[in-house]
Amino acid sequence: MKIAVFSSQKHDKDFLSKANEKYKFEISYFKELLHEKNAIIAKGFDVVCCFTNDEVNEKVIQILKQNGIKIIAIRATGINNVDLKAAKKANIKVVNVPGYSPHSVAEFTIGIMLTLIRRINKASTRIKDLNFSLEGLIGEDIFGKTVGVIGMGKIGQIVANLLVCFGCEVLAYDPKKKSNTKENGILYSDLEKIYKKADIITLHCPLTQDNKHMINSKTLKLMKDGVIIINTARGALIDSSCLIENLKSGKISYLAMDVYEEEENIFSKDLSTSYIPDDIFAILLNFPNVLITAHQAFFTKNAMNVISNTTLDNIDKISKNEKCVNEQTAKI
Ligand code: NAI
Repeated sequence: MKIAVFSSQKHDKDFLSKANEKYKFEISYFKELLHEKNAIIAKGFDVVCCFTNDEVNEKVIQILKQNGIKIIAIRATGINNVDLKAAKKANIKVVNVPGYSPHSVAEFTIGIMLTLIRRINKASTRIKDLNFSLEGLIGEDIFGKTVGVIGMGKIGQIVANLLVCFGCEVLAYDPKKKSNTKENGILYSDLEKIYKKADIITLHCPLTQDNKHMINSKTLKLMKDGVIIINTARGALIDSSCLIENLKSGKISYLAMDVYEEEENIFSKDLSTSYIPDDIFAILLNFPNVLITAHQAFFTKNAMNVISNTTLDNIDKISKNEKCVNEQTAKI
C-alpha cells in the first residue's frame, strides 16, 4: 500500500516510520494540509493519512476518488473534518484512532486548568526575568469548585474522576446519560444547570453540526460571572467572536484553549518571522488570563505510539478486507 501522510511533522515521521517496521508500507510524508487545491498530490497513492485540520470535504473526496484513493486514515479521534457521507458515496473507507490515550488529554486538561488558575505560566516567565515578587500572582483553590464536564466519553470520564479526587463538585452532561443520575460522585445534569452552576466548564465532546458554537454570547449570559472555561476538545465549540468582550467584562475570568476555531491557519506553523493571520487570536494572546496551547493535549510518547500503530493496523485490516473496528461510516 502506498500512503500519503498529510500535515506531517517530524514526530509523525518518526513514530509512523517506527510502526511501519512491522508493515513495510510505502509511506511518503507531506508537510501540507490536505485541501481542495493540493489533493492532487494524492495521485498514485492508495491511502491518505490525515490529521485534525486537513480538509476532507466532499470536493476533496471527489478528487481523491478520481485519483484512486481507497482509504482515508485519520490519525486522530475526532473526524469532524471528514465528510463521511461523501466518503461512503465514493466508496472510500474511513478509519480513525478512537481513545488512543484518553489519559494524555485528560491529564493535560487538569494541567492547563491548574497552570492558569494558579498563574504558574506567569510566575515562570517572571522568575526568568529575576522578578521574585508575588504581586498579581494570587490564584484560587480548585478544591470545592463546581466543575461542569461536557461530554462524558473516554476523556471526559477521566477528567471528571480526577476532579472528584481534587474535591470538586462535578456536574456532567452527556446526551447518552439521564439527568440527575449520580455515578462515582458525579452528578449528570442538563446543560442549562451546568451553565448556571459551574465555576469551571471543561469541554470533552466531539464537534457536531448541533453543538457548533455551543459556548456563545447567549449561553455565556447564563453562566456565573467569572466563569473559567477550558477547551481541549474542538475550537468551534466556542464562538470565538464573543470571547474578547466577555474577557474584558470579567464574565470569563480565565480561558484555556488547546484548540481554536480557525487553528488550521495558525497551529503547527512557525509564524515567528511573520504575523498572526487572525485578529481575534492575536488579541486573545495578550490577555494575561488566557492560556493557549497549539493542539498539544494528545501529544505524549504513549499516545503517539498508539496512534501510529493503530493507524497502520487500520490500513492493514481494510486493505486485506478484514473487519476493522475503527472503520467509521455515515449513517445514511
Ligand atoms: P468519546 O467518543 O469517547 O466521547 C465523546 C462523548 O461526547 C460521548 O460520550 C458522547 O456521547 C458525548 N457527546 C456527543 N455529543 C455531545 C454533545 N453535543 N454534548 C455533550 N456530549 C456529547 O471521545 P473522547 O476520546 O473522549 O474525545 C472527546 C473529544 O476530545 C474528541 O471528539 C476530540 O474532539 C477531542 N480530542 C482532543 C484532543 C487534543 O489533543 N486536544 C485529542 C483527542 C481528542
